[in-house]
Amino acid sequence: MTEKQAEDLVRRLAAAVRSAELYSPAHPLVQRGLDALGAASLDALRASPSVVVGFLGGEIIVDAIRLPGGTATLAGFARGLRERDVEKITFSKGLIRDELRALVDVLADRQSPVPLADRLQHAGIRHIAIGRIVVEEVTDEQAGIAAARRIYGTAVETAETLWQAAKAGDRPDPGAARKIIDGLARLVSQDRTSLMALTALKKYDNYTFTHMVNVAALAMAQARALNVEGTLLREFGFAALMHDIGKVNTPLEVLNKAGKLTAEEFDIMKRHVVDGAHILRRTPEMPALAPIVAFEHHLKQDLSGYPENVGSRTLNLCTMIVSIADVFDALRSNRPYREGLATARIRAIMGEQDSPAFNQPLLKRFVNLMGLFPVGNLVRLNTEEIAVVTAEHPSDPFRPQVKVIMDRDGVRLPEPFLANTWEIDDRGQHARAVVEAVTEEIDGIDPLAFL
Ligand SMILES: [Fe+2]
Ligand SMILES: [Fe+2]
Repeated sequence: MTEKQAEDLVRRLAAAVRSAELYSPAHPLVQRGLDALGAASLDALRASPSVVVGFLGGEIIVDAIRLPGGTATLAGFARGLRERDVEKITFSKGLIRDELRALVDVLADRQSPVPLADRLQHAGIRHIAIGRIVVEEVTDEQAGIAAARRIYGTAVETAETLWQAAKAGDRPDPGAARKIIDGLARLVSQDRTSLMALTALKKYDNYTFTHMVNVAALAMAQARALNVEGTLLREFGFAALMHDIGKVNTPLEVLNKAGKLTAEEFDIMKRHVVDGAHILRRTPEMPALAPIVAFEHHLKQDLSGYPENVGSRTLNLCTMIVSIADVFDALRSNRPYREGLATARIRAIMGEQDSPAFNQPLLKRFVNLMGLFPVGNLVRLNTEEIAVVTAEHPSDPFRPQVKVIMDRDGVRLPEPFLANTWEIDDRGQHARAVVEAVTEEIDGIDPLAFL
């Protein structure tokens, strides 16, 4: 897309909204405004499956193009949207005039108390989305986590593009998927701790896309811990990333429903497993594993769950790993209807299902992997000190409160002291961070005595 096309799109949008504010819907100026907007959006979408118009501060950014500032009309338009919490508008291929009209109507109506994004959803719009931009708060200057954040952030953005393309009726772009998996594969082998920490961030705003990336990351971490490597590891990643892609066909009112689904709605929701398998089967470059996992991921060990009546089969190893990652991430994330649950509680829920939903040995390994630093365990800090975990952080399992009991030379401290590993010092850094659990016993030390 050229700068001209980008600017054209935003200008036409601003003009159409302005006409709609001033005149009745049937007015020729309103109609003409829509026509012009339609032409501009078609033009912008010619080369890519979706275009994101972002409003950040006083700036307007279309995909990667920053529009030149200085025009009062556009600046005012951007400010007006920002005031109403619109930070970006995503247009996807397949867009029709009625959808543009609905967008313009929604933006022009300043009286309605209902949030814009909700109104757009209720209008049944499939090719336009309004949202907020998640700006990463980089509080940790450590190169590791900063780099991991960038990779993770890009992965989530790319997942969104992937999703929008699939939703607009195109196939999910294998190139985009590959980009995500490349990043995650690197992190999983080089900096798993940072990656796992990132999946623990609670970003409900774009749950769909963070969920895709989180499930891929959590599945790849499990697979890696089982010594799955190379091509197979990446195939696991692809399958995990795409497990819910069939939900592009699920109506938004079912997908985002705040309350419990009715039996009828649940039946609709259940279709995503079969739809996903279909979509993935016809997507070039998708590993054969992907449609299998999409199809199986809500089946339990005894083949209850859905799809129903699948006959006798053995669930794929990747399916079993993905369903653990899937349920864990869903329970942990903030959803419209409830807050994310603390990890300990999640662990209990996952373990206590009576008909074993999960493969038990795999679940045990996962809990060990994620169970991280339970209270009373010995841990090694980045300072080489040894400490006992005294309390879990309420939301960040990677940053517990600890009691430091040995200095870097392995000498026991006469007076152990408490340290909050989530605290940041005046240089903006974490003074102490837990590096790993110490699994071997240390002579003469009873960790529980320090609690
Ligand atoms: Fe699912
Ligand atoms: Fe899922």
